[in-house]
Amino acid sequence: MAAAKLVVWDAPVRIVHWSFVALLPALWWTAETRQMDLHFTLGLTMLGLVTFRLVWGVVGSGTARFSRFVAGPKAIARYLKSAPDNANPVVGHNPLGALSVVALLALLTAQVSLGLFAQDTDAVDSGPLNHLVSWDTATAASEAHGIVFNVLAALIILHVAAIVFYRIVRKNDLVTPMISGRRTFASPVAQPVLASWAKAAGVAAIAVAVAVWISFGVPPWGAKFPWDETAPAEDVPSVDSYM
Ligand code: HEM
Repeated sequence: MAAAKLVVWDAPVRIVHWSFVALLPALWWTAETRQMDLHFTLGLTMLGLVTFRLVWGVVGSGTARFSRFVAGPKAIARYLKSAPDNANPVVGHNPLGALSVVALLALLTAQVSLGLFAQDTDAVDSGPLNHLVSWDTATAASEAHGIVFNVLAALIILHVAAIVFYRIVRKNDLVTPMISGRRTFASPVAQPVLASWAKAAGVAAIAVAVAVWISFGVPPWGAKFPWDETAPAEDVPSVDSYM
């Protein structure tokens, strides 16, 4: 095996990642400015992306799979004691970075889930699953939706700080591979397995179906599919109009 430029991040991982980066500030802004219709649309898009990434973490390309990068404390300690990255390259997430990846995905999942049950003070703007929980639970979900956002924001600052640290101190550019997918390795390493576009399309279809179903309020549990809704009553002329 010769030194080579390999695809370390497949297109789905990169598209989902940069969509997170674009969507999160937009979600914050639409909540701050009370543009709730747009907030719900962007939130459901986020739900679809998170669902995609979680399923892709089980069936996707080698470097996307949780089973390949989630590591225990021993592996993290070994990684911390090892030589700098360029001399001892890790293809995909290193054991320490994997911690932040898991935490970011867990917090994004929590944040999206809480939003589905949340409501504002007069319950006018409610998430699509709000009807499944009590007033108190919805109020708690709304409060937690605000708190988890702050934790997420703090973790993202740490995430970006870690990337800057790798660039400056460990001379390892992590951003270019997250854009182009490719990374050059000085020492020989094997190309990770890449999942097919057909598989990505299948997982995307599942993610869209889940997001749409949830946006309807998870019928038949307490909500109806749009096509089962009773049509609004026709304009029946009042008795007075005949007189
Ligand atoms: C809303 C903000 C962000 C969120 C929620 C987020 C989330 C994530 C997640 C979940 C991953 C794991 C990728 C995967 O396996 O799917 C990741 C990796 C990564 N992110 Fe972010 N990210 C954010 C902002 C940024 C920004 C602003 C940058 C660039 C300056 C960045 C650069 C990277 C890089 C380079 C990696 C790969 C790290 C590695 O090589 O292990 N992220 N991010």
